[in-house]
Amino acid sequence: MKILITGGAGFIGSHVVRRFVLNYPNYEIYNLDALTYAGNLENIADIENQANYHFVKGDITDAAFIDQLFQEQQFDGVVHLAAESHVDRSIKDPLAFVKTNVLGTMNLLNATKAIWEHNYAGKRFYHVSTDEVYGALGAEGLFTETTAYDPNSPYSASKASSDHFVRAYGETYGLPYVITNCSNNYGPNHFPEKLIPLFINNIINNKPLPVYGDGNYTRDWLYVIDHARAIDLVFHKGELAETYNIGGFNEWKNIDLVKLLCEQMDLKLGREEGTSEQLITFVKDRPGHDLRYAIDASKINKELGWEPSVTFEEGLKQTIDWYFDNPEWLVHVTSGAYQEYYSKQYEA
Ligand code: NAD
Ligand code: TYD
Repeated sequence: MKILITGGAGFIGSHVVRRFVLNYPNYEIYNLDALTYAGNLENIADIENQANYHFVKGDITDAAFIDQLFQEQQFDGVVHLAAESHVDRSIKDPLAFVKTNVLGTMNLLNATKAIWEHNYAGKRFYHVSTDEVYGALGAEGLFTETTAYDPNSPYSASKASSDHFVRAYGETYGLPYVITNCSNNYGPNHFPEKLIPLFINNIINNKPLPVYGDGNYTRDWLYVIDHARAIDLVFHKGELAETYNIGGFNEWKNIDLVKLLCEQMDLKLGREEGTSEQLITFVKDRPGHDLRYAIDASKINKELGWEPSVTFEEGLKQTIDWYFDNPEWLVHVTSGAYQEYYSKQYEA
């Protein structure tokens, strides 16, 4: 079985690639990644010499290249993670999100359809998506698989659109697909533009912790390795033409999460309790900031037996340990273009 994983040099993709390469030695795994600012071969350096692993540098927005790759390799399965993934960047440059997330997904769908059209047996196209497509919740309620799509940011609008196209290719052409919508991930290899790794890096460097608005925004957090476990399960056991919500049963207000992170960082750094909290700075809110995301993950739990394997406190501790064990990773990803992004986003 030949499987294409897109975006496998990114945060979540690298954990998915590692899992598939090591758990399924009889599969040939192709990792297709354009190595944008978010893609980093260091994330998967430990598996690059495995016999069943192949890396292809390429851009999913290049239709001719994608068509040729699919014609040559005749993949049996696709796990599609490649995307522009950061809400703040989508506010500054929405078109980049349309290009990669919508057009890129379309190119993959067309190339897949072309090689599978006459034989769908045993094949599947898996789109990895986000709970942000459902929009914002108030203080109560949970997103279920039947919640209507209501995206608010350019990022979530682009992911919603690509979800719709995947489903449309299923309905219209019979393409065998499955979609998952997952809550906020955290863990090793997370690029320091997102809340948790940005704040870990800033605490290490004694820089302000920019909390948007009043910090009373709620997210559900899932350890990335538990997301990779869920993707493995849905790829192998999920019902075709179905959607599964994936979440951590783990809601946190940003400000409470940041305080817990500060506490754990003080312990790790041997600093006096309360030191890191002093770095908290309330800054201008994100435009269109979704108040609350919360996932009802009972379908994947009941039908496929999946549940998170680590508590948030444990996952956060392991995450912090990873950043301390890999200081050179942080130095590499925060040099160059990162500096420019940081000053435009936080110091302008
Ligand atoms: P990421 O930004 O860390 O990684 C994205 C990867 O895609 C990078 O390796 C990048 O080089 C690659 N890529 C970007 N544009 C490309 C292109 N045009 N062609 C080929 N490769 C390209 O993202 P992530 O956080 O690992 O998210 C992976 C997927 O999971 C995304 O589809 C995202 O929408 C989804 N998701 C993320 C979260 C989260 O909390 N991070 C939650 C739910 C779903
Ligand atoms: P983020 O990690 O960007 O994920 P998402 O926007 O996809 O949920 O942000 C998580 C939450 O943290 C979100 O409510 C925005 C907030 N946030 C800050 O308060 N400050 C920051 O510097 C960042 C990056 C995020």
